[in-house]
Amino acid sequence: QAAAGAEQYRPQFHFSPKEHWMNDPNGMVYYKGVYHLFYQYYPKGTVWGPMHWGHATTKDLFNWQEKPIALFPDSLGYIFSGSIVVDKKNTSGLGKDGKVPLVAIFTHHDPKLEEKKLNTFQTQSIAYSLDEGNTWNKYSGNPVIKNPGVTDFRDPKVMWYESGEKWIMTLATKDRITFYSSKNLKEWKKESEFGNDLGAHGGVWECPDLFPMEHNGKTIWVLLVSINPGGPNGGSATQYFTGSFDGSKFIADSKIEKWLDYGTDNYAGVTWSNTGKRKIFIGWMNNWQYANQVPTKAWRGATTIPRDLYLAQTSEQYYLRSVPVKEMDQHLSSVYKKATLTFGNEIDLSGYTKDLNGQLKLDFNFNATSSMEIVLSNKAGDKLLVGYDSKSKMYYIDRTHSGATDFEKDFAKKHSAPRIAVSENAKISLILDVASAELFADDGLTVMTDVFFPSTPIDSVKLFGNENQKLTNLSISSIPTFK
Ligand code: FRU
Repeated sequence: QAAAGAEQYRPQFHFSPKEHWMNDPNGMVYYKGVYHLFYQYYPKGTVWGPMHWGHATTKDLFNWQEKPIALFPDSLGYIFSGSIVVDKKNTSGLGKDGKVPLVAIFTHHDPKLEEKKLNTFQTQSIAYSLDEGNTWNKYSGNPVIKNPGVTDFRDPKVMWYESGEKWIMTLATKDRITFYSSKNLKEWKKESEFGNDLGAHGGVWECPDLFPMEHNGKTIWVLLVSINPGGPNGGSATQYFTGSFDGSKFIADSKIEKWLDYGTDNYAGVTWSNTGKRKIFIGWMNNWQYANQVPTKAWRGATTIPRDLYLAQTSEQYYLRSVPVKEMDQHLSSVYKKATLTFGNEIDLSGYTKDLNGQLKLDFNFNATSSMEIVLSNKAGDKLLVGYDSKSKMYYIDRTHSGATDFEKDFAKKHSAPRIAVSENAKISLILDVASAELFADDGLTVMTDVFFPSTPIDSVKLFGNENQKLTNLSISSIPTFK
């Protein structure tokens, strides 16, 4: 059991670096059976600093192997967020001897220009790997997109647009998105801008992603946009748009504000490239509001559980559903199952959860016409509340009394999220990993990810509801530690 010490609060089945600071996941690419994760990394401290790309790989999205740093800062600046594509046709000409180049497209951030208050300190550059992502060479012609005089000009996400035989770059530019296109990843042409009259604008737009998804035989385009601050529960969060894209312009099909995750701790997430029709997402499980202050010691920052994305249609709107990747199922060990539970008073499941070290998955169905609450606690009396309020039709996570909270004045709060599903039968899936809670409600239509810092891991789980409330298909599973 994790005792107070250097490893207190360490996630046991989420990726976190052994030591030092991480923020955004970067350049995720699937190649030859390996999922690569790169990430914003500062190898000399546990607060944000000159950015590198850290690197980790996995074959199953759970067993991670940390690798040597992939990209170091250079004369053009720090290495900010970006993406990686498999250049199968060698459009870039960076391939050699028949070797397919993996091409990383990232932002160079020049602190010297920033200091001089010149607006041009962020540019886009590329690097390539000819050994399946192990080592990287920066392109000699960097940067490939110069800065037109926009202070926030970053986080290129590139995809191959098949019907136009060209690459499309989705770039965050202040609180707008700018699309660029290219035939060779080196020369880029501006196509269009998006976001003028749509979306949340409480902060700067960052880390976008654009991809098509199929739904009932139709192609719907999805645009993810992280925003900081201005999230629905404060600080940073990720909104998204659905609509159409014609190789030049994105047109949204709705004015309704939609959030991928209503919790405070899923930021800057994007999807893996080269996974075909499957869309796998991972986010940084943190929030800029307090990321530099969270009370972990040897490291700071972790990723969310990898999530499969699907589209759903509810109330004539397209919504994204995110659920833990299917690879998770094979790691679950059933601890308790019960077909029906009726409330008299509380339902105490602590007998099943007390030895799980706060590493568990809880699933059940309930009736959305009546409220319910899950009280997760430990012997020290720290409490995390997760529930549904049937009057306001809101899900919530309340971390007000969840352990260490005093490192930031707004951390101790209750966060809420609208229920998007409309059926009476509601569904909860909750994943705990020592210091995080990920709530997937209604098959991932409403999602909340919150970190919290209990003095010892959660050992007690109790459910509360009134007599009308009935739970069905309850299951508790334990989840192992991955080294
Ligand atoms: C998002 C972000 C990106 C930037 C990176 C810097 O969290 O601000 O926009 O590229 O972090 O580390």
